[in-house]
Amino acid sequence: MSEQTFTFEQVAISLDDRSYDIHIGQGLLSRAETWAHLPKAQTAVIVTNETIAPLYEATLRRAIATHFKQIETVVLPDGEAHKDWQTLQLIFDALLSKGCDRKTVLLALGGGVIGDMTGFAAASYMRGVPFVQVPTTLLSQVDSSVGGKTAINHPLGKNMIGAFYQPVRVVCDLNTLATLPPRELSAGLAEVIKYGPIADMAFLQWIEAHIDDLMRQDPQALAHAVKRSCEIKAEVVGQDEREAGLRAILNFGHTFGHAIEAGLGFGVWLHGEAVGCGMVMAAELSCRLGRVDAAFVARLRALIERAGLPVRGPVIDASDNAGHYLAHMRLDKKAIAGDIQFVVIDGPGKATVCGAPDALVRAVIDDCCA
Ligand code: NAD
Ligand code: GLY
Repeated sequence: MSEQTFTFEQVAISLDDRSYDIHIGQGLLSRAETWAHLPKAQTAVIVTNETIAPLYEATLRRAIATHFKQIETVVLPDGEAHKDWQTLQLIFDALLSKGCDRKTVLLALGGGVIGDMTGFAAASYMRGVPFVQVPTTLLSQVDSSVGGKTAINHPLGKNMIGAFYQPVRVVCDLNTLATLPPRELSAGLAEVIKYGPIADMAFLQWIEAHIDDLMRQDPQALAHAVKRSCEIKAEVVGQDEREAGLRAILNFGHTFGHAIEAGLGFGVWLHGEAVGCGMVMAAELSCRLGRVDAAFVARLRALIERAGLPVRGPVIDASDNAGHYLAHMRLDKKAIAGDIQFVVIDGPGKATVCGAPDALVRAVIDDCCA
């Protein structure tokens, strides 16, 4: 791409002194300009994993070479099953053994697992060092890299140990999506679809019209999906950074989804798959609570299916499947004294948080699981 034709988009996250920009475009990773005006530091540490390192680490290292005297790389094992204390410790081990000071800049090169763990490491290393999100999956470009939620999993629950800690920049290079396996692309589409029913029915309609383009990775369709998703998330996070209220709507489908992920064991279903199916279950619950009609649920289910995602939940425990889901959901971060709080659709394009009788939730789980 020539210098004259190069374009990229920016979406601003407005959070007082924690404000930053999301850069979205093709080929951003290799452009030295992308990395200008980062906090001044001697050292940068790229945190990535064994799958992504051979694909993009060298490109990133070359691009930032003029900005940092020392560049180190930490390569973690790949997968949701490694989003844990042991793997987090590998980041701290590397930072300390390389003599990294409190100005060191961390760069999270990878999907949501790398982004969440690097963010948590940045939040806590020497009580906080700057970090940049360089998301390389669709899911991380449209959701996890934005908004400052960082965490690791606990065997008993998803993302249970973490911190709110904002990056100083997010760099979404759309070209990195070209190497993404189809199953991971679908997982990312779950979080794109999420923004429609909770906030923007015109966007939902656009996704319905372009789902085939998105599935075959049409660059323009992907660029629009990433930008619009980031705009919606920026709007929500700008109003409620620490999830005092509104931000919970971004968890539509996640209460059921997290129960699937933790119940099956982390990594069996992808996060996006669990969220996709969880949205069908949450929409069904919304319908039984009288908030949307059955046609709305059918419409959402059809789109999720077209995105290549599962629409029926797994049976985790044949003896009492609903009880198993409920036990996991009582540990959800939104639960209050064991009372599960669900994100429900409160009319198309609008979401709210509410409780629901156990019997109703049991019926939804029974009817929505294979
Ligand atoms: P992931 O990080 O596990 O990445 C998916 C897979 O794709 C991995 O195997 C990874 O190595 C590989 N990969 C990444 N980029 C690639 C590329 N360009 N080419 C080829 N392979 C590539 O999964 P994810 O879906 O990106 O993220 C899921 C995680 O994000 C979950 O842990 C979830 O809890 C978290 N999350 C966090 C937030 C938040 O706000 N912090 C929001 C949503 C999800
Ligand atoms: N992905 C949910 C949130 O960022 O709040």
